[in-house]
Order: sequence, then structure tokens, then C-alpha cells
Amino acid sequence: MDNTLLFQPFQLGGLTLRNRIIMAPMETNLASPQGEVTPEMIAYYAERSAGGVGMVTVEFTCVDRSDGLGCTPQLSLDAPQLVPGHRRLVAAIQAGGARACLQLHHAGRQTTPAIIGGRTPIAPSTFESPVFRIGPRAMDDTDIKRVITAFAAAASHARSAGYDAVELHGAHGYLLGQFLSPWTNRRNDAWGGSFKRRLAFPLAVIHAVKARIGAMPLIYRLSADEMIDGGLGIEDTVLIAPHFAQAGVDALHVSTGVAERIDVNVEPIHMPDGWRLPLARQIRQAVKIPVIGVGVIRTPATANQALERGDIDLVALGRALLTDPQWPNKALAGVADQIRPCTSCNWCIDRLAHQLTIGCAENPRAGRELDLPLGRIAAAKNAVVIGGGPGGMKAALLLAESGFSTTLYEKRNTLGGGLIASAVPPGKDKIFRYRDYLLRQISSSAVTVRLGCSPTALDIAAHAPDIVILATGASKRPADIPGGQLAHVAQAYDVVMHDIDIGPGPIVVLGGGETGCEVAELAAAQGAQVVLVSRSPLKQLARAAEAIYRRHLVKKLAANPLITILPSATILRIEPDCVQLHLADDNMLSVPAAQVFTALGRDTGSPLISQLQSLGINVAIIGDAQRISRIGEAVNGAYTAVREHIKRHARVSQPGDPSFTQ
Ligand SMILES: Cc1cc2nc3c(=O)[nH]c(=O)nc-3n(C[C@H](O)[C@H](O)[C@H](O)COP(=O)(O)O)c2cc1C
Ligand code: SF4
Repeated sequence: MDNTLLFQPFQLGGLTLRNRIIMAPMETNLASPQGEVTPEMIAYYAERSAGGVGMVTVEFTCVDRSDGLGCTPQLSLDAPQLVPGHRRLVAAIQAGGARACLQLHHAGRQTTPAIIGGRTPIAPSTFESPVFRIGPRAMDDTDIKRVITAFAAAASHARSAGYDAVELHGAHGYLLGQFLSPWTNRRNDAWGGSFKRRLAFPLAVIHAVKARIGAMPLIYRLSADEMIDGGLGIEDTVLIAPHFAQAGVDALHVSTGVAERIDVNVEPIHMPDGWRLPLARQIRQAVKIPVIGVGVIRTPATANQALERGDIDLVALGRALLTDPQWPNKALAGVADQIRPCTSCNWCIDRLAHQLTIGCAENPRAGRELDLPLGRIAAAKNAVVIGGGPGGMKAALLLAESGFSTTLYEKRNTLGGGLIASAVPPGKDKIFRYRDYLLRQISSSAVTVRLGCSPTALDIAAHAPDIVILATGASKRPADIPGGQLAHVAQAYDVVMHDIDIGPGPIVVLGGGETGCEVAELAAAQGAQVVLVSRSPLKQLARAAEAIYRRHLVKKLAANPLITILPSATILRIEPDCVQLHLADDNMLSVPAAQVFTALGRDTGSPLISQLQSLGINVAIIGDAQRISRIGEAVNGAYTAVREHIKRHARVSQPGDPSFTQ
């Protein structure tokens, strides 16, 4: 049992929390198109409450659907008919032992007419956001009073629904933040023009909400640093925070960023654990109310140290709870090494950006909590998994836990596959945390691992498998260029798999996809002069990468003095000491090269597929062998394949077995 500060109860106003862990608000796209609570949403939050958090903050919830929506579908609470759904949600959260808090939100300028029924977004000023590219309408006094009333009415509905607390979303550049920030508030009236007048709107909302919720705790989430030129910095927010405390706010939730700086709100993989805590600490020193810290808090040790150092009073976990809802219970039980570690890969954010429901690269149940556990098969059966990358390891674990006698083959002498290739480039070592977690899971499972083995179809048939999961990854595409077979030419993928050493250079990387870009950066990090040649235009560099990480990667490549990028180039031939190119401006160029790394695509499929099928063996293909994609697709594909197979072909003896873990 863990008796650190993290697990001491906490008094938030009149509310007692069982520990100091709060689930950060996270949009899920699980609401109905009308903004109602759905059964899927209830199951999602119930699972996280049961995981042991002290309080669940329900995602940003619209206070006025006429012009406040930030996305569709967005959870809403701007009408009494929405209250019963919230009441069911609150009951489910409270049944798991956590307190329920609702985050109230109006998007202001950070939305589009398509989202708000063709209307023009409203904001303090007409200043256009480069992200949303629509000049908002400046709010008049009537708009301002209407929105203040909407916040108060939504808070009142939240109270009727039984919520224990309310949080105002004043962070990330939404309407409350827009009034507070000199960057977006360019008014010169009662609502802007000076430090004090920029405070007027958030303070009016705080007063109106407090008048409706009485003693219920009120939390204000703010961006302590907007990290944009002309925006709020920590030197401003340490002066603002005491005004909120004085207005009766019970706690401050310290985040960072605005829409234009989403990279400091849902930070990509390279950002260090707990990097925002020094900002939270400065806010805490400016007020006497509790402060909640958030941002890449991934381990119980990081969380507890932040509390003990006095940086913060409460810890908010966002993505860590998507990845592993049982994070608090595992930390409390002292088995932190069993926590599935979020890598900040932002596959979850990418899904939302593509209008999909919430999901997690590592946790296929995220957003699918209504799925019954897989259960255990009734009769003994064999399963074979070929390929020990993320999809293969996940499939093997699920099959073994379901009772299949499972053999996992990997042709290399180590498990990891694509996880190794993804983790090796600079700043991506968090992926090793996930690889190591999977290795621990495999070693404590019943899976039989056969390393250094590439079985034939007949070897596999000898297992008499009920199911074969083929997770062999993509195969390398030979460089179909004159000179592609020369000794100094190698696959970029082999470089990130440590099969090829990077020499002193000069190095030419052919291919501007994610792997090509990452290998160019890796080679430069080792001191080599690198020329990165892309057949596509500059704006398409690493185009399949996750958007927030991609922006960061491309910026780093462009700023690296050791890297030259040649976009829209045609590769004519590789020679023993150079590469001949035809450039976009029609000139020819000979680029010196001691080594050439090719990243010109890889191919799906495997000859094993038809061989196994001709032997009448059931084969499910997952991961890059099926479609070149990301870790999330491989792991989620493993879950779907195992689930489908069990549903169709195997009788389950213990449906709903509560001891089953995924
Ligand atoms: C999928 C997703 C949805 C989010 N939605 C919200 C939201 O509705 N309201 C909000 O204030 N922050 C939102 N955030 C930001 C998180 O609350 C949190 O501040 C951020 O993810 C950093 O914390 P973490 O590293 O623990 O995830 C969201 C983050 C993610 C990953
Ligand atoms: S998808 Fe990636 S970033 Fe998002 S919660 Fe899962 S592991 Fe973390």
C-alpha cells in the first residue's frame, strides 16, 4: 500500500477527495450529435472512476450551442432536458468512488461556422486566428451578458445533475482566455483596454456561476503562459491568479497554450515529464488556494515529488488515464511497473482531429468500454503469432489471457519490432517505456516466445493452430534506382533498427517520409553532414506523421545546420561517392555521399498469407503487414482480430470475467 502524499485525502472547499489525483478534462467525441451524454460516455468515465482517481473532470461542455461549440459532437449542458443524462453520468462516476466535476466551456473565436450552424464565431475582438481562419464578430454588451448568463445557467444545471464541482475552461485560448489575453482582447471599453478591464469578463462569469452553485467548489483552469508573442506570460498570470482567488475560486488548474500553440497543451513525445510544474509552482506562490498541476505527469514518482516539493496541491492526469485507467489503483498497490505508460504519441488527438471517437494507441478499450471483457475460451486451443512488434505482442498477450496456448515467433533476437524503429530517433525514447512494459507483460504471461525464428507455413501448421495472427510488419522495398545495389546504400529502416551503423558522412537520405526525416535527424545528431532528398514538395515532408509531432520535426530539420533539404527532386542514380539529382529548378546536382539511406516506401503482405490459407489455416493480418500505419493501428488491430476470432470461432466459458485484464 502506498502511503505517499499522493494518496492522502484532500479537502477542496467542503469536498473531500479520496486522494490527490484528478482526471484532467478530455474531449471524447462520445456525446450524441445533440450534445447528450451517451451510454459509451458513461462507460468511459465509469471505468476511470473505478481506476481510483480522486475526482473525474468531465470533458469541456458547451454552455451555449448557438455559438459556443468548439467541435461536433460536443457534450453540452445548455438546456434542462440535458440534465437527466448528466445525472446518470454523475451517478456512474460517483459509484466508482471518485468525485465528479464538470468543465464548462465556450469556444469564442476557436471554432468555425461549420461547427456553429453557419454563424460567425464571436470573440472579444475581430482579430482572426490563423488556425481557424475566420474573422470573428466582436461581442457587444448583449452578447456578453447572454454568455455570462449561459455559464451561470449551465453551472446551475450541473448542480441539479449532482456534480460535486465545476471547472471553468479559461485556458487554451477559448472565450474566457480570449478576454483575459491582450493578444485576443483588443477592446477599449468596460471589457478590455487595461489589465483590470480584461479581467472583467472572467470575473463576471465567476461571480455569476458562484451565485448559482453556492458552496460547490469552483475551479478555474487557466493558461499560465500562452507561449505566443503578445499573449499572457507567467509574469501576467501570477498577477491575475490572486484576483480569481479573491473572487471565490476554490482552486486553480494550471495549463499552458492557446490553439496556435497546441504543442504546449497536448505536447508531443519529446517534451520532458513534468515540464510545466515550475509554472504551476509560481502560480501557487502567488495565491493561498490549492493549485492543480498537469502535463506529462506519467509516473507516481513524478506526481508525488511534485506534491512533496510543494509545486502543486493536486495532480491532474490526462492521457495517462486514457492509456491506463487503473493508474491510481496500481500506484496505490505499489505496482507502478504494471502501469501501461502513455508515450505522448498523440494518436488519441489525431483520432479526434479526424472526427473519430476517443481511442488510445496502447489501450484498445479506450472509448470502447462497453465491450465485454474477452473472457476465457472453453476448450484448449493453440494460437500462433508471427512477428514480435507492438501488434504481435499485444495479440499474443490477449490470446494467452483468453486461454489459448500461444506461441510468438520473432525473426530477430529481441522483441519490439517497429517499436524500436519508432523509439530510436531523437526525442522519441518514451516509446521504449512502452516496449519495456510489453516485455514485462510477455515475460510474466504464458506466451511461449521463439526468438530468432522465421517459421515456414509447415512449421506453423505443426502447431495445429486455431488462429494465426500475422504481424510481420512491412517488407523493405529495394531501391529501384540505378546504383541502388551499391555497397554503401542501405535502408533507412535498418538504420533505426541498429542493423546499420551511421558513419561520419556525408550522408544522403532518399525519401522525405517520416522515416527518412527521422533518419536524417538521427545522422545529424551523430555529427554527420546530411542531405535529405524528397520527391515531394517541402510542405509534404513526413506527411503521414501525427500533426503536432510533425510540425516539431519539420521545424527541427529546417533549423539544423547539418541538414540540407532538397524537395521536389528526382533521383537519377547513385554512384560510389555521390547521388545524381534533377532538382525542382531543372538543374542537375551531384551530392557527395559516403552512405546513402533509402526510405522510399515499404510493402504490405507476406508470402506466408497464401501459404497458410492454402493449408486451410485461419489467418488474421494486422499492423504494417496489412496496411502501413502507426503503432496505434497495430495494437488496436490486434485487439479487433482477437476479439473477432473469439466471437466467431471460440466458445467462451466465462463471459464478463472481471479478472480479465487487457
Ligand atoms: C484527447 C484529449 C482531449 C482533451 N480535451 C480537453 C478538454 O476538453 N478540456 C481541456 O481543458 N483540456 C483538454 N485536453 C488537455 C488535457 O486536459 C491535458 O491538459 C493535456 O492532455 C496535458 O496533460 P497530460 O500530459 O496528462 O495528457 C485534452 C487532451 C487530450 C489528450
Ligand atoms: S494515444 Fe498515445 S498519447 Fe494518447 S493516451 Fe494513448 S499512448 Fe498516450
